[in-house]
Amino acid sequence: MVRASAGRIWSVSSNPCQDQIHYAQLNWDEDGQPLSSVFGDVYFSRVNGLEETRHVFLQHNQLAQRWEALPEKVHFVIAETGFGSGLNFLAAWELWLTTAPRSAQLHFVSVEKFPLDKNDLIRALALWPELEFLSQQLIDAYPCIVGEGFHRLSFMDGRIKLTLIINDAARGFSKLLTTTDPLYSQYSAKVDAWFLDGFAPSKNPQMWSEDLFSCIHQLSNAGTSAATFSAAAIVKKGLKFAGFAIEKVTGFGRKREMLKAIMPNNSQDYFYPQPAYKSASTFPSSWSINTNLDIYPDKHALIIGAGLAGCSSARALAERGWKVTLLERNNAIASEASGNPQGVLYAKLSYKEEAQAEFNLTSLQFAQSFYSSHWANIGKKTGVLQLAHCDSEQVLQTQLQEKFAAADELVQFVSCTKASEIAGVPLSFNAIYFPNAGWINPAKLCEQLVSHPLINVVTGIAAFNIQRTEHGWCINNDRELQAPVVIIANARDAQHFEQTQHLPIKSIRGQVTYLPATIASKEIKTVICSEGYIAPASAGIHCTGATFNLKEESKELRVEDHQTNLENLREPLQELLAEWENSDKHSLDGRVAFRCTLPDYLPAVGPVADEPAMLHSFASLRKNARAFIQDTGKYLPGLYLNIGHGSRGLAYTPLCAEILAAHINNEPQPIARDLVNALNPARFLIRDLIKNKR
Ligand SMILES: Cc1cc2nc3c(=O)[nH]c(=O)nc-3n(C[C@H](O)[C@H](O)[C@H](O)COP(=O)(O)OP(=O)(O)OC[C@H]3O[C@@H](n4cnc5c(N)ncnc54)[C@H](O)[C@@H]3O)c2cc1C
Ligand SMILES: C[S@@+](CC[C@H](N)C(=O)[O-])C[C@H]1O[C@@H](n2cnc3c(N)ncnc32)[C@H](O)[C@@H]1O
Repeated sequence: MVRASAGRIWSVSSNPCQDQIHYAQLNWDEDGQPLSSVFGDVYFSRVNGLEETRHVFLQHNQLAQRWEALPEKVHFVIAETGFGSGLNFLAAWELWLTTAPRSAQLHFVSVEKFPLDKNDLIRALALWPELEFLSQQLIDAYPCIVGEGFHRLSFMDGRIKLTLIINDAARGFSKLLTTTDPLYSQYSAKVDAWFLDGFAPSKNPQMWSEDLFSCIHQLSNAGTSAATFSAAAIVKKGLKFAGFAIEKVTGFGRKREMLKAIMPNNSQDYFYPQPAYKSASTFPSSWSINTNLDIYPDKHALIIGAGLAGCSSARALAERGWKVTLLERNNAIASEASGNPQGVLYAKLSYKEEAQAEFNLTSLQFAQSFYSSHWANIGKKTGVLQLAHCDSEQVLQTQLQEKFAAADELVQFVSCTKASEIAGVPLSFNAIYFPNAGWINPAKLCEQLVSHPLINVVTGIAAFNIQRTEHGWCINNDRELQAPVVIIANARDAQHFEQTQHLPIKSIRGQVTYLPATIASKEIKTVICSEGYIAPASAGIHCTGATFNLKEESKELRVEDHQTNLENLREPLQELLAEWENSDKHSLDGRVAFRCTLPDYLPAVGPVADEPAMLHSFASLRKNARAFIQDTGKYLPGLYLNIGHGSRGLAYTPLCAEILAAHINNEPQPIARDLVNALNPARFLIRDLIKNKR
C-alpha cells in the first residue's frame, strides 16, 4: 500500500527570482521506505540505504583512511546536495566517532530544497535502529523551517556541526562563497569531500546545473574528493567542468556504475579566464574579503571582556581546541551589561527580506537550540509572550502571520484568552508566543560558558592597549599577555583602543527594577513583553525593565526610571500593578548598566579593519559608490571584534561566537555570505567612504 503524506508550502517569497520552497511530498512503499511523489524517485537504495551510503559516499571519498590520518584539533568539511532524511549525515557522524581524533571537528554542510517535515524525518529514520543513538539527537535538534535560510546545529559539545541550508543546491552553496567573484574564490572556506546526492539526473536535471558545478569548483581545493551514486553523462560532464579527475567504479546493489573524483593540483588555473574578467567585472567591491587565511599553529587567544560576548567567544574557541585567556577588568565576570538577574531571550521577527530580519530569526533559532540542554542551570524556559499592545505591534503581528503560519515550534499567534491562559494572569491583548524562549540569568550562563579546561579567566586586569608583535598581539606591553589572536569583546569600551576607535559605537544607559513578588504576581508563568517586560518571579523578585537613555553616563539608580518601568507595564497589567504603584518608589531596588549598539542595530563581528590601508585601497568609493575596485579588504591579522549586541545579547551572542570562530578557523560560516558582510566591522568605513565622510 502506498500512502501520501501531506506536503505543505510556506513562505511565498515576494522575490520573483526565488522559487517557492516546499516540504517534501512523500509516498511510503510496502517496506516503509520513503519515495518522492514529485520526483518519482527513491531516497536511498531499496536494497539497503545505509550500506549504499557507506559504499558510495564514505568508502569512495576514502573517509576512514583520511580521518585516521588527521592531526589533532583540525576540522574536516563534507558538503552534500540533498539532506533528505539525514541518513548520509548520520552514517558520516558514526564513522567519524570511530576514526577521527577526539579533538577534531566534522562540519557537514547540506543544501536541501524540499526538507522533510519532522514527522516524516522520524518515520524515515526509524528504518535504521542501529543509528538510533545519533538519529534521536538529530530529531531533537531538527529545526523549525521558515523558508530559505541557514540552520547550524551542534552535537557532542561541538565535535559534530551540521549546517543545513534550505535552498536550491546551487544558490545555497553560492552563499558559502566569500564573494561571488571567482577571482577571489581561494579565500572561501573549502570543502574536503563532496557527497553528490539528489535524485537521479534523469528525474531532477534542474539540480545538476552548470551553476552548481561552478560553485563546487570554487569551494574545492587540490585534494578535494567527490563521490556520487550516478554515472550519468551530465554528472561526468559537470565534474570535469568543475576541474575534477573522474573515475567510474562499481555502484551499489543493482547500480552497475558510480563516480568518484578528485581535484588535481593545477585545476584552479584554467577555470576562469582572469584577464577578461578584470576589465569588466559586474561584481561588487570585495572589501569584505579577508586574505589572512592563517591556520594558527599556536591555538592561543586572548579575549578582552568577560560578558556574554567574551564568554561565548571563549567557549566557541575552547570547543575547537583553543587555549583561551579571558581578561576582565572587574573582579567578577558578567558584572556590567551581562549582570542583570533576569534577561529575556527574545529577538524581534520581521516579514521583510533584509539583513536585520534574517539575523534576528537565525540568531534566535540558534540561541534556542544552544540553550536547550542548559535551561535548568541558567534560567527558565517559561516561554515569552509579546503582546499586541499598540497599533503598530498589531499591524506587525498580522504581517508576520503569513510567513510564520507553519512555524508553531518557533512562534504561535494567540488570542487574548489564550495569552491569559499561558501567562497565568488576565491579559487584554492578542499576542505572539515563543514557546521555546524564556528568561536567563546572564551571569550564570557566563559561568557555565567559561567552565572549560581550556579557558583561563583573569579578573581585575583592564586592557588599556593592544600592540602588534612579531608573533601576534600583546596587551598592556605585558609579556604574559601575548597571543596570535586577540578578540575585543569589551562592548562600548572598544572605542578606547587605537585599532577600533573609528567604530561609531553608541552607549545606551538602561535601568531595570526589581519588584517584590505579590500574591497576585506569583501567578505569572511566562515572560510578558509589551512596552517593557516582566519575568516570572525568581527567588521572590521579578526583574522588569528596561529604560533607554542615549548619551547618559549616570550609574545611579533613579526613582523616575523605576516609575518609567512600572508605567511601561500599566497597559497589560493594570490590576497587578496597584500594589507596587502604591509602594514607596525610593525603597525599590534595581540595577543600571550600559548597552553597546551600532547605528544599524547589528553587532560588529569579524576581523578588525586596518583603517588607513582600507581607506587608501577603497578611496575611489568617495567619487563613485559603485566603483569596481580590484582589491581585497585590509585587515589586521589575528585581531577580531565581537561587540554591539544592544538589547539582544542573549539571542545574538551564541551565533556571533560561532561566526567569529568560523572566521578564525577558516570554517564554513553558519550564516549566508551577505549576512557575514552585514556584520563585518569594516562596513562603517566603507559606508563613510561612500558618503564622503572620510
Ligand atoms: C538594562 C539592560 C537590560 C537588558 N535586558 C536584556 C534582555 O532582557 N535580553 C537580552 O537579550 N539582552 C538584554 N540586555 C542587553 C544585554 O545585557 C547585552 O546585549 C549583553 O550583556 C552584552 O554583552 P557584552 O559581553 O557585549 O557586554 P558586557 O556584558 O558589558 O561585557 C563587556 C565586559 O568587558 C569588560 N571590559 C570593558 N573594558 C575592558 C577592558 N579594557 N579590559 C578588560 N575588561 C573590560 C567589562 O567590564 C564587561 O564585563 C540588557 C541590557 C541592559 C543594560
Ligand atoms: C535521494 S534524496 C537524498 C537522500 C539524503 N542524502 C539522505 O541521506 O537521506 C535527494 C534529496 O535531494 C533533494 N533535492 C532535490 N532537488 C534539489 C535541489 N535543486 N536543491 C537541493 N536539494 C534538492 C531532495 O529534496 C531530496 O531530499
